[in-house]
Amino acid sequence: MNIQQIIAKKRDKNKLSKEEIDYFIENYTNGAIEDYQAAALIMAIYINGMDEEETTDLTMAMAHSGDILDLSDLRIVVDKHSTGGVGDKVTLILAPIISTLGIPVAKMSGRGLGYTGGTIDKLESIPGYKTSLSIEEFKQNVKEIGISLIGQTLNLAPADKKIYALRDSISATESIPLISSSIMSKKIASGANKIVLDVTYGSGAFMKTKVDAQKLADMMQKIGKLANRETVCILTPMEEPLGKNVGNSLEVIEAVEFLKANMQDDVKEVILELGSYMIKLAEKGDNLEENKQKMLEVIQNGKALEKFKQLVKRQGGDVSFIEDTNKFEKAKYIVPVVAEEKGTIQSLRAEEVGKLSVYLGAGRLKKEDKIDSSVGIVLEKKVGSKVEKGEILAYIHANEEEKANEAVTRLKNLYEII
Ligand code: URA
Repeated sequence: MNIQQIIAKKRDKNKLSKEEIDYFIENYTNGAIEDYQAAALIMAIYINGMDEEETTDLTMAMAHSGDILDLSDLRIVVDKHSTGGVGDKVTLILAPIISTLGIPVAKMSGRGLGYTGGTIDKLESIPGYKTSLSIEEFKQNVKEIGISLIGQTLNLAPADKKIYALRDSISATESIPLISSSIMSKKIASGANKIVLDVTYGSGAFMKTKVDAQKLADMMQKIGKLANRETVCILTPMEEPLGKNVGNSLEVIEAVEFLKANMQDDVKEVILELGSYMIKLAEKGDNLEENKQKMLEVIQNGKALEKFKQLVKRQGGDVSFIEDTNKFEKAKYIVPVVAEEKGTIQSLRAEEVGKLSVYLGAGRLKKEDKIDSSVGIVLEKKVGSKVEKGEILAYIHANEEEKANEAVTRLKNLYEII
């Protein structure tokens, strides 16, 4: 067996065997297969797809490319994962809420992918926050404070770490087999036995239609069943960005505001929906409406925010930034985007807003690129809002004047006002 034959087989639209998939994953993880060869195979999979059996084999090979964490001594551990979005700060908010309700949260998150943001990049905008822990520290945190949020730095699904970064840099993100194997391999490796998946669809999601999102959900649920992980999928629209802020520290700031009960309606809806299922899966309440009330309670009484601070502190972050979010370094240029006409906002395509934030430096174009955590976009007006001529629609946060000006023009054109 060799990688050229495997690439050619998928290039020619043939089905890969379990042995071929195992061979690719093992040898790409250990460095025997080069990035350019892996890129060719990943692109062939992206274009020609994989059937259910291949996708399951790929997931299992990726999950077993490193350690599989055993958290069984904690009994029920829930996890949540999103298939990606723009302005999606849900994990930063939801994880502490769920943990406050006495449900252990052990979560391994990802970095930005394509035009979508990643929880790990956002957490790393908090000075000192360590996304890379040893397995012992990770488990200890979950045991002692009921929560840990880490990146893919442990030896958990290392194949996904490499393939994820590669996909990001070769525009091979929107693919059902690649997304489901990426997400489910991480979930299987990181030890949670109950999983809630936020499957997004629309302009800012990898699945553009609800039908495709359902196909992705079905695939991940099948894999979950096979791996003995109870998996619930919630389909959520992502036509415009979620919430107000897009960009790394900007999203942390919005998450902190949410935990102080200053909640954007669309974010609130997603948080309550996903969280109510997490509580149900954890056997802490069968009634979804009551679960939502419990969540609102720990926001209102400040306990969820305290839990977030506890998490930040435990993972080495400077809590004073959470106590006073004004401490986050501001971008050099904060420029308003002003409405040139009166009317109602009809659309604001999330994918384009996401690409704009990547252009400003909030995401990566090459896998080695460094993130600029202070840049991004603050949306003052969203779809359905009425605006007057001259009213501020949004602010661009940029560190280069030229980029700031270009972003203002681009964002203005993204607002469809009639
Ligand atoms: N999140 C992941 O972890 N992987 C994907 O492919 C998409 C979203």
